[in-house]
Amino acid sequence: MPDAATVPRTRSLTRLRAAAEHCQACDLYRDATQTVFGAGPRDAPLMLVGETPGDVEDREGRPFAGPAGRLLDRALADAGLDRDRAYVSNAVKHFRFHREGKRRIHEKPDAGQIAACRPWLRAELAAVRPRVLVVLGATAAATVLGRSFRVTEQHGQPLEWADHAAGSPLAEPGGGPPLGDTMVVATVHPSAVLRSRDRDAAYAGFVADLRAVAPLL
Ligand code: URA
Repeated sequence: MPDAATVPRTRSLTRLRAAAEHCQACDLYRDATQTVFGAGPRDAPLMLVGETPGDVEDREGRPFAGPAGRLLDRALADAGLDRDRAYVSNAVKHFRFHREGKRRIHEKPDAGQIAACRPWLRAELAAVRPRVLVVLGATAAATVLGRSFRVTEQHGQPLEWADHAAGSPLAEPGGGPPLGDTMVVATVHPSAVLRSRDRDAAYAGFVADLRAVAPLL
């Protein structure tokens, strides 16, 4: 049985990142190259959360550094948002994959891995305290807003975190929620746009959802 994540009580992202390098709270550390912690300024008004690092991110150690990240960067720019002013992270911070020959094929994290990694996401949120939190895809939405939340029904709608805090898996056990007056916007995952049969329409929908963010910042 892996240990629970040992998260230092600090708002220093440098210290959190250093501690997360040694996390063995689930089994993913065994095969992954490294922990891919969030990246961006601590005073970022915008935070984005994806699912789990992919092959490129696992090798480079930065979230959204591969093809999905390039699409995300373009969509953010088209929506009038600046990635350099955003803190970008994932629900799970190690790459989960299986091998097919030499290729490493991404797998979705399971509920135990998401739960094991949740204290890190909670600590990142408490450190950054973003004005707006964007959840990218169903895994991130379930991690932040609970499993009954449907991205297909509520994508692009600004939600008050306070209205969702009680049902959120992120709410601190026995304490207050890690966010105050933060707004949450859910949208699709950029990988889903890349996989879509009508990529132009999926991209336009993604950008439309992100356009809801700028007026909230
Ligand atoms: N997909 C994610 O959810 N996160 C990344 O960092 C890369 C791809």
